[in-house]
Amino acid sequence: MTKAVVLGAAGGIGQPLALLLKANPLVTELGLFDIVNTPGVAADLSHIATPAKVEGYLPPDDGLAKALKGADIVVIPAGVPRKPGMTRDDLFKINAGIIRDLATGIATSAPKAFVLVISNPVNSTVPIVAEVFKKHGVFDPKKLFGVTTLDVVRASTFVSEVIGDLSKAPSVVVPVVGGHSGVTIVPLLSQSSHPLPSSYSSSELEALTYRIQFGGDEVVKAKDGAGSATLSMAYAGAEFAAKVLKAISGEKGVIAPSYVHLSADKAGGDALKKELGKDLDYFSTNVEIGPEGVVKINSLGKLTDYEQSLVQAAIPELATNIEKGVTFIGTPK
Ligand code: NAD
Ligand code: LMR
Repeated sequence: MTKAVVLGAAGGIGQPLALLLKANPLVTELGLFDIVNTPGVAADLSHIATPAKVEGYLPPDDGLAKALKGADIVVIPAGVPRKPGMTRDDLFKINAGIIRDLATGIATSAPKAFVLVISNPVNSTVPIVAEVFKKHGVFDPKKLFGVTTLDVVRASTFVSEVIGDLSKAPSVVVPVVGGHSGVTIVPLLSQSSHPLPSSYSSSELEALTYRIQFGGDEVVKAKDGAGSATLSMAYAGAEFAAKVLKAISGEKGVIAPSYVHLSADKAGGDALKKELGKDLDYFSTNVEIGPEGVVKINSLGKLTDYEQSLVQAAIPELATNIEKGVTFIGTPK
């Protein structure tokens, strides 16, 4: 029996994500929470012939606590999306408070659940959740994940386009490390499972790197004020959640990229900090996940000089974003 919960389930990401979770046979219960429309979304999904029993909740009558009761995995796409001209950090003002309140609900109603944070700015919202959990004495770094899968999905797609064969997209694997905003998104294209053409120039490599780093802007611009990536994010979120669900069910060797607290695996985290040359608390890299959460934080592997420079460029912004989230909650060290 595995219960998945979506907080922000009536939104642009929340609805298709809830659909994909309803379609996942490992989910037997699906709790949907939002400040609007969840009864309708739940009624709609509940007619789909898959195992998950679906229930929708709104804030009155302890709806959040009811939705979270018995949760094994909580996915959070609640909050406002970007409009053209905004950075993800511009969303902090509104989303920080939303995430703080939802994290408080999780800390009291489902403190042992795996928590997957999609809401932006991810680099700061994940530290917010951690600090709230610390305040409640329930922080387990092994079970808190910032969802950076969309960057990896984009890298697979864009590399397959460069290779000229979209049919390869599902099998192209490119590690993307760092965080989830602009220069903090660092694709390690030298480690792509499918190498770039030998004729690929350094300016082409820089352009491809930029496209992966700023892929979110392409969608924000194309939607022209109607929000940011929702469908590709739901796909990516469901892909990451599916891996977590497999790990919870006991499957071994589940590896996924995620933005995690580096104490989730002390040895791996310390080794990573050495590679970075900086004592950061959070970083996204491939992590191995087991039934109790993060088992191993993987190293970045061999980087080119260009990739090393991208990592170094990401560090100051990441440090600022992390500090902003921590300060917002203000847990004494
Ligand atoms: P949206 O506006 O379509 O949906 C957000 C939903 O959150 C709405 O249904 C809203 O009612 C709900 N909500 C607001 N306050 C809430 C609260 N206190 N409790 C519960 N629900 C609440 O937005 P969207 O396009 O689905 O994007 C959601 C978030 O995901 C944004 O912050 C966006 O930037 C982020 N995002 C992250 C990634 C990523 O890669 N991590 C990708 C795309 C979008
Ligand atoms: C994305 O990468 O598409 C999301 O983080 C949404 C955004 O604001 O770009």
